[in-house]
Amino acid sequence: MLTTNQLQSEILRLKKEKDFCILAHAYQTHDIIEIADFVGDSFGLSQKAQSAPQKNILMCGVRFMAETAKILSPEKRVLLSHPEAGCPMAEQLTLEELKALREKYPNHAVVAYINTTSALKTLCDVCVTSASALKIVKKIPEKDILFIPDCNLGGWIAEQVPEKSFVFIKGGCPIHTRITEEDVLRERKNHPNALLLVHPECTSDVTRHADFAGSTTAIMSYVAKSDAKEFIIGTDNSIVQHLGFEFPDKKFYKLSKICVCHDMRLTTLVDVYNCLVGEGGEQIELDTATYEGAKRCIDNMLKYGE
Ligand code: 13P
Ligand code: SF4
Repeated sequence: MLTTNQLQSEILRLKKEKDFCILAHAYQTHDIIEIADFVGDSFGLSQKAQSAPQKNILMCGVRFMAETAKILSPEKRVLLSHPEAGCPMAEQLTLEELKALREKYPNHAVVAYINTTSALKTLCDVCVTSASALKIVKKIPEKDILFIPDCNLGGWIAEQVPEKSFVFIKGGCPIHTRITEEDVLRERKNHPNALLLVHPECTSDVTRHADFAGSTTAIMSYVAKSDAKEFIIGTDNSIVQHLGFEFPDKKFYKLSKICVCHDMRLTTLVDVYNCLVGEGGEQIELDTATYEGAKRCIDNMLKYGE
């Protein structure tokens, strides 16, 4: 039987031998984070892989992230670490439903959260990440915006851009929306000196109490720059563990013990090993129309996000 350490060493050896760049979304488990070339948020990872020298990319995360990596690096072989790892929010709208919405709101700019399938992106004008959404929504020329699929992230942005008018659908992250205002009141009471940091996928009942709301990377950078010693974290609980490793002199508390993304947990260290030896994962292929349509949406994000 191999120990975690021995398996990690074998993965590091194979990664070099097989010319792989390993990307790990920040919600992966710590044993995977330790062997990754890059750790970060959904879009940042794909950008890192674009300039990496390796010919093969292994995305330890969920399907839309691997698709994004493929769109940014079409000449590379991109593997998704676990074929069943999808983001439920990315598929909350069908193409037919989005087509119907476009017909209903013909003059609205369709802004998609990056947590959407590539197929859906082909019908959108521009996509955004939680880190870039505010800037992009302010910059696009249209005043009227149809924001899909996350009404919580969208609502959080809308509050900060009162000069624009928004239409939302009832989409959102099934994991972050589990966090309630009661969780906030309880943890604030339990840890009166802690700052509350949350992801904007949480409902407004939660974000309005926060000292800071931002993407996974923004939450981690906030902790790095802050003089505070205690933090309550309102996002996938893996972040609480990673922060504990990175900042052992600070204390981190879970806002809710049930904020765990099961799709992100599907990938194990053994899956990573299997991908490298050619016995696991799924190679991402996109047809030309999907690639070109989704790329246009991502290119617009880069144009307005600069
Ligand atoms: P980030 O872009 O903040 O990493 O968010 C991705 C995600 O899926 C959050 O639930
Ligand atoms: Fe999707 Fe939510 Fe999981 Fe993020 S945490 S991958 S938005 S289901």
